[in-house]
Amino acid sequence: MRPDQDTKGTTPSASDVWDLLAPATQDRTGFTAGFLATVDPDEQPRVRAVILRDADPSAATVSFATDVRSAKIRDIQLRPAVELALYDPDCMLQLRLSGTADIVADPEICAKRWADLAPHTRERFEQIENFAWVAISVTSCDWLDLAAEPPRRFRMTVAPGQHETREIVP
Ligand SMILES: Cc1cc2nc3c(=O)[nH]c(=O)nc-3n(C[C@H](O)[C@H](O)[C@H](O)COP(=O)(O)O)c2cc1C
Repeated sequence: MRPDQDTKGTTPSASDVWDLLAPATQDRTGFTAGFLATVDPDEQPRVRAVILRDADPSAATVSFATDVRSAKIRDIQLRPAVELALYDPDCMLQLRLSGTADIVADPEICAKRWADLAPHTRERFEQIENFAWVAISVTSCDWLDLAAEPPRRFRMTVAPGQHETREIVP
């Protein structure tokens, strides 16, 4: 499914989610920035924008870079359940990904991701020791198509080997 297609008469699948997210990690699209929700130590919700830097269909993960000193790292260490909401105004589609965040410890992966960052982005971390790569294992996606009239909403399982979509109302 292309971003400019609406879901009239069709049921989106998990592969449509990856087809929309993968290009957003290479070029700027409406899905390049999303809003990550965590729960803080006082059990308060915390939401902030992050840049989607990787979307891997085979592992069913989406990833972002952050600073180990940031509050979201503390939140994830305490409670790894997160949501990432993304909205592309061009295709009027909201994707809300639910999953479990993992602060990647593998030094090889971190070194590669660090090397992939633009120099001005690396500077913000001051040193590589402050860099963290966070991979969210996506288990489900809430797909809301506002381009359809009336809007259509689907709940889909996204985890590897589990693909199921059902339409929900409202
Ligand atoms: C468009 C946009 C993109 C952002 N991308 C990131 C990002 O990829 N990683 C990140 O750690 N912070 C990013 N930020 C900053 C966060 O939204 C947030 O202010 C910061 O990470 C501190 O969040 P925390 O204290 O909740 O951890 C971005 C902000 C904006 C407005």
